[in-house]
Amino acid sequence: MGVSRGEFSSRIGFIMAAAGSAVGLGNIWGFPTQTASNGGAAFVLVYLVLAFCLAYPAFMAEILIGRYGQANAVTSMQKMSRSIFQKRFAFVVGFGGIICAALILSFYGILAGWMMSFAVEPIALFMGAENVAEWVVGSTVGRNVLFTSIFMLLTVFIIRSGVENGIEKWSKRLMPMMIGLLILLIVYVMTLEGAAQGLNAYLNPDISRVLEPDLLLSALGQAFFSLSLGTSVMVIYGSYISKQENMVTIGAQVTLIDVSIAFLAGLLIIPSMYVAQAQGVQIFADDGSLIAGPALVFTVLPSLFEGMGTLGLFVGLAFFVLMSVAALTSSISMLEGPVSYLVERHEIERKTATTWTGIGILAISFVIIFNISFMLDFVATLATEYGQPIIAMLCCVFAGWIWQRNSLLEEIKLGYEEAESSLFWKIWPWYIKVVCPVAIAAVFIHSLL
Ligand code: PFF
Repeated sequence: MGVSRGEFSSRIGFIMAAAGSAVGLGNIWGFPTQTASNGGAAFVLVYLVLAFCLAYPAFMAEILIGRYGQANAVTSMQKMSRSIFQKRFAFVVGFGGIICAALILSFYGILAGWMMSFAVEPIALFMGAENVAEWVVGSTVGRNVLFTSIFMLLTVFIIRSGVENGIEKWSKRLMPMMIGLLILLIVYVMTLEGAAQGLNAYLNPDISRVLEPDLLLSALGQAFFSLSLGTSVMVIYGSYISKQENMVTIGAQVTLIDVSIAFLAGLLIIPSMYVAQAQGVQIFADDGSLIAGPALVFTVLPSLFEGMGTLGLFVGLAFFVLMSVAALTSSISMLEGPVSYLVERHEIERKTATTWTGIGILAISFVIIFNISFMLDFVATLATEYGQPIIAMLCCVFAGWIWQRNSLLEEIKLGYEEAESSLFWKIWPWYIKVVCPVAIAAVFIHSLL
């Protein structure tokens, strides 16, 4: 994958990089946790509808803007602006996305650090270093500082030196491994007591809950988070795609991969919760509410792995290593947004821009770590439930109202000869112009009321 005004080396290269950005902690940690705390299957249903009907079209708007502009988010949108007012609007939307990406990375790095520390635990246990094992999974400030820093260092290292031979090559190998491991674990969980009850909670929706304002807002935020929208990331990734590629199918493939992996993760985690409960681990309080909260996955999975004996050490190691890799392919995309902006707009050298942006974001991570219970929630809610949907909505407004219609249609047609006879061609242009902005705004208004 080319990073400094390069191009993805191949079609599969882009799919892997964009899917790498999309698939991450949001799928395997965020989606099941949100599902568990928002009424199970009702949340899954709303999520699927919003992912396909709102997030996918918005995703298309972002990658098409990027491919048209062949530049970072601000420059790309300014290229299609005609008045000074539109240029300012482009700046607000593009720069807002960049800030959003930086804020997300500041807490994402902490969570990814947890994943890494849970990968170190089985190694320490295997080597008989019990106190190291205990320390790495204890939620101390020291542990968080250490693992967040290591994770940020890796992210900076990859973006500094370009991505092509490192992460692109490895994500192609590791992503299929992760899917394989997920499926094996699901099959295993299904054989355990309590799994059927979990499956029911996951797949049998309580329809009366689907219009609950909190549920809707969380599902919207989750869908946009999962596809990395409203962060400038897909604009910049889109800008690295060749003009010969068919964006419509590529976009659909990435969305499908992303949603499927979230769905699989839910199929593992939700039944595992009920299995753990049946084994005496306290997952639910007496009133049926969740005790574990955001730490759910870190309670449920280790207890599942423990039940497998020594084999569980290896499975646990493999799982958390793959999770850390999935997090890394997402974090590099978040750093690429601000870095490409600094390189292209301010002519700062790539390595310098990467290092300083990384240091700045790590500083925000430290502020969060020292006030973790309040700040994590605050930054995550601000960036993902408000920032991302609002900026993604503004990208739709931009593509629908400011981008000249002919030029937009021209962009869809590049690499897609039969475009004119497709459903996408007929529906999408007015869909992002009217339906997406109105629907996103409606979810907000609904939740505020
Ligand atoms: N989509 C990633 C996930 O689901 O884990 C998170 C993410 C990546 C959010 C990149 C935002 C972003 F710009």
